[in-house]
Amino acid sequence: MSNRNILVGLDVGTTKVCTIVGVHNLNGELEIVGIGTHPSFGLKKGSVVNIEKTVRSIQASLEEAKLMSGVDIKSATIGIAGNHIYSFNSIGAVPIKGKVITEDDVGRVLDAAKAVVIPSDREILHVIPQEFRVDNTSGIKDPVGMCGIRLEAHVHIVTGAVSLIQNLVKCVEQTGLQVEQITLQPIASSEAVLTNEEKEMGVILIDIGGGTTDLAIWKDGALIHSQIIPVGGNHFTNDLAVALKISNTEAERIKIHHSSVLIEKINQSAHITVQGVNNARPGEIALSFVAEVLNARATELYEIIKAILDEKLVEYQVNGPIVLTGGGALIKGMAELSEYITQRPTKIGYPHAFGGMTNIMQHPKYSTVLGLLMESFKKRKDENVPNAKKLEGIDIISKLSESLKSVFKEIF
Ligand SMILES: Nc1ncnc2c1ncn2[C@@H]1O[C@H](COP(=O)(O)OP(=O)(O)OP(=O)(O)O)[C@@H](O)[C@H]1O
Ligand SMILES: [Mg+2]
Repeated sequence: MSNRNILVGLDVGTTKVCTIVGVHNLNGELEIVGIGTHPSFGLKKGSVVNIEKTVRSIQASLEEAKLMSGVDIKSATIGIAGNHIYSFNSIGAVPIKGKVITEDDVGRVLDAAKAVVIPSDREILHVIPQEFRVDNTSGIKDPVGMCGIRLEAHVHIVTGAVSLIQNLVKCVEQTGLQVEQITLQPIASSEAVLTNEEKEMGVILIDIGGGTTDLAIWKDGALIHSQIIPVGGNHFTNDLAVALKISNTEAERIKIHHSSVLIEKINQSAHITVQGVNNARPGEIALSFVAEVLNARATELYEIIKAILDEKLVEYQVNGPIVLTGGGALIKGMAELSEYITQRPTKIGYPHAFGGMTNIMQHPKYSTVLGLLMESFKKRKDENVPNAKKLEGIDIISKLSESLKSVFKEIF
């Protein structure tokens, strides 16, 4: 099979590294042909802290994916998150002087929008167009072919720390893989879980991973805010381990199988047997106590989210629901507690099914990696489409990534 038909999403997460291999099949559709997952040991709160361990985990997940798919993997679209990510909105404008707007004009206005001063230790990862304005007309997604005096671009810019991005890229490259593109993880998760209608109407995607909780707010089909919060499912596990004086493995088991963040839903007389640390005698713990511990952490997380939403949703007039995804979304009661604290309808978001996807893959913990695979598919399709068609829709992230690298080099 030609290597151009092979597509790979690689999610280097805090708890697991996952590789999904897809092919661009004869019908022009994306079809999954292999998956490999391996526990991740070299990351903390979404960032690489141990290169050697991270490389080993990536290698193991790649080998598994290669074995299952039977294809050779040469490059991948990878995801990025971590505390170092900082995003903001920017506006650029250029004169058109009454002429017809061309793709070059769009390029110029995007250059103007991204010509903002950022510290030299930061790198631009994405410049995502939200809307274009031609003179006094707003809400334009593709201005090519229109006439006007002044063209304005509103964009969402995602930046990250150069060193931390390099660490991740280095880990991937050490396994012999080339990095095809880097995508912010909540953008990838949104791709896998949200519908275009939801993004149009306004929606808040919250990916609760192991080390971080990633936010993406969409309105009018565009990303208007993204943020990484350094709290994830592992913090829930650690809290349980400390409060119950048990191992992390035992705490993880209880969190997944016997707990809830809703104290009032727990039968007050229900107890569970837990294994003490270092083979200490098993003990009885009230499930209401387990729920109290998890509720405290979940409440803290949702208070942080609520503060962000209170500011951003008013500023951008978004009135949409919340969609929870990521493995941590499955901690029982998370959606109900979100509704109570944020006062917004909340549901769990599962990845959309497409060719070759099994039931096992339709788990919120695979949203990011499936989204990365879809981003890779979009990029390849985009590369095969003649230039004039490339601006269709607003998602031209991948088209921009290469030009951004050069702009970044020019600025710094
Ligand atoms: N069924 C479940 N019930 C409760 N929690 C779960 C369940 N499945 C997974 N989790 C939790 O989800 C978290 C891992 O989620 P995920 O795989 O999305 O994270 P990650 O991508 O490795 O990490 P990150 O995105 O933060 O770098 C862990 O804390 C795990 O305990
Ligand atoms: Mg993740």
